Amino acid sequence: MGCAGSTSHERQFFLSKVELFKRLPEEELPELAKSAVEVSYLKGQVIIEENTPGEKLFVIKRGSAGVEINNRRVATLQAGEYFGESALLRNEQCTATITAASSMKALMITREDFMNLGLHTKLELVDKLGKRGAVGGGAVANAEIKEPSSKTPAERELIAKALQENANLSTIATLDTDRVNAIVDVMWKEEVPIGKPIIKEGDLQADYFYVVQSGSFQVSKAETASSDQATPALGLLEAGSSFGELALLYFAPRAATITATADAVVWVTARQQFKDLLMKANERETQENLKHVSKCDCFNPLTEPEKKELAAAMHEMTFVKGELVFEQGERGTQFFLLVEGEVSVIKDGKEVTTLKATGYFGELALERDEPRAATIKVISQSAKMLWVDKESFEILIGSLEDLKKRGRDGTGAVKKLQVAPSAGDTKRFGNIRFKDLKVLGLLGCGGFGAVFLVEDLGNGETYALKNLSKGYVVTSGMQNSVISEKNVQLMCDSPFVVKLYETFNSAETLHLLLELALGGELYATYNKKNLWGQEPCAKFYIAGTVLAFEHLHSKKIIFRDLKPENLLLNEQGHVKLTDMGLAKVCPGKTFTTCGTPDYFAPELIASKGHNLAVDWWTLGILTFELCAGHPPFESTTPMQIYAKVQKGIHKILFPKKLKGNIESLVKGLCHAVPSERLAMKKGGTQNIKKQPWFTGFSWDEMAKFTLTPPYKPHVKNKKDIANFSAKKEDMPPQVDYKDPKTGWDKDFATSE
Ligand code: ADE
Repeated sequence: MGCAGSTSHERQFFLSKVELFKRLPEEELPELAKSAVEVSYLKGQVIIEENTPGEKLFVIKRGSAGVEINNRRVATLQAGEYFGESALLRNEQCTATITAASSMKALMITREDFMNLGLHTKLELVDKLGKRGAVGGGAVANAEIKEPSSKTPAERELIAKALQENANLSTIATLDTDRVNAIVDVMWKEEVPIGKPIIKEGDLQADYFYVVQSGSFQVSKAETASSDQATPALGLLEAGSSFGELALLYFAPRAATITATADAVVWVTARQQFKDLLMKANERETQENLKHVSKCDCFNPLTEPEKKELAAAMHEMTFVKGELVFEQGERGTQFFLLVEGEVSVIKDGKEVTTLKATGYFGELALERDEPRAATIKVISQSAKMLWVDKESFEILIGSLEDLKKRGRDGTGAVKKLQVAPSAGDTKRFGNIRFKDLKVLGLLGCGGFGAVFLVEDLGNGETYALKNLSKGYVVTSGMQNSVISEKNVQLMCDSPFVVKLYETFNSAETLHLLLELALGGELYATYNKKNLWGQEPCAKFYIAGTVLAFEHLHSKKIIFRDLKPENLLLNEQGHVKLTDMGLAKVCPGKTFTTCGTPDYFAPELIASKGHNLAVDWWTLGILTFELCAGHPPFESTTPMQIYAKVQKGIHKILFPKKLKGNIESLVKGLCHAVPSERLAMKKGGTQNIKKQPWFTGFSWDEMAKFTLTPPYKPHVKNKKDIANFSAKKEDMPPQVDYKDPKTGWDKDFATSE
């Protein structure tokens, strides 16, 4: 390693490429450039070693560097690219080994220098590009799927090798030989002439994954306007390479442009094919559960499809020797099926029998709310149960009592439990007229539209009016999710969830009239008031979220998009969960990968099917983020986040101030196995409430809204929007609406 000089202008040019530095005020760049040291490496020299503490950022000026994870080359970085960015902000282990692939020159900045200059305090925390948006959800997959092309053994081998060597693919799925073969089977061949972009950055048609058979492709990414190089090259992809794997996970605009630099042949597969393949594993699990369900005579009245639906929806729970599954006299709504281990059935203190797989108990709970007739105690080393509760059972299949009355052939009406507005809510609607609403200001902007502060001129009350552009909803295929957002919102009635008062349907726009929370977004408040790391605040907001989730989960609603951006404060500082855009009524499992990458649970990334347990994972991430100032798996790209998530929370270095109670709460929530997360285990949310971190915390007062909030926002009156900083320029562009005449929006309005 050696040092040499370079002009300040040249240094600033290279540093301006680093994503992190785009968040610095421009006037800080010269100082930063001065602190950069120019370093040189010989081909083969190791620059950074995997799993060692990272302390430096490098921006390549000349030459290239290889990135290796577990001794596997995963990428090559070229001039203008950089590595070690997160090392500038915190003490983290390096996740890859970086070696000079040729003789190489780079600019290096150490964390010590960065901190000494005070630059970590000058970073703009939310900029337009850096705002964490949700991904996935709703969009209808209508991508064309072609017939598989025939393949020679050599071609099959090339594709299989490419799949196995794609590190990102191994992050999102375990690719054993059977799965690799299944993917190879369905792929079709396409020819790409020289000069043609096969993928365009920002493209919304992002449904395919490619393996290069022959020819080559250039990867490029548009730069910000300040750069004099409009589309810098990021790398070359040749025969045996593969790309586009993020599209296998969810719908998201393409992140780069990929252009053929020679006539090329590629193999193609679509997201839907990949998802279908991963779902087959779930199908095997369902068949296994079905065998057990079929052995329970209490389910004899169910038809075969109903049994299968039940089998697919059952949750797993494990117990250890001596644990009580439930106690005589206790009330409960769960039915249990024993699939591994042995239990003792105890009545009035005496064992009456023992049960092994597939024994079942608690069946009366599916019919009546009666005290348990016996105690069930685990007597084997461990025991595994499948369970379902009365509410899920009735949403999925109907009441067991009605099922018993109908004929064995499955005919005769059985009413499923309707997911309906909360009791007493009918009075809540039809009171406010759209024409009486006057827009007073802008509160926020989202993908589909904006949220405005409005006044009801009839009585002077103020509300938040969320507008959804029908044009945008239809072009992005989100009709069902918008209707679901409204229905889910209608079902909610909790002081910890923003209330819906009315919905309106106008020519170009759908409107949701919502409870107003003028204290602002929790994320903005944390940044403005620097509340990061303040434990009393984190405890209060986490507790509020627990109570919000308790309410949603009691109605079988998964929220799926927890983050500080989706928590609002009211004038007093009470916390309210908002934005049901990704929420879903789900008594069993669901398969759409969606949410915000920093908050993705591992089962969501693996497309294994997920349930309410994903929300408890996100609560763990939120706890970490509020206390540490950044989410635990934070990385520059979504794929890097997913790779860290799959390695698990145990690989994360917890900052000193989180050691102990916060660490154990986060680890209890972010368990890799969904059924092992606190709140998914016996005891439910009590397992969170009783955590040592909450010792002395009054959950009763919290639930009654009588606990004094730790931070009181400054709100002058019910029209004061000073805590919001949305700008008109951030409003999404208008998308023209052509009514598809399907009647998709006919039930949207509660009143005119
Ligand atoms: N209620 C629902 N959304 C809101 C927002 N963005 N700001 C204030 N109150 C709201």
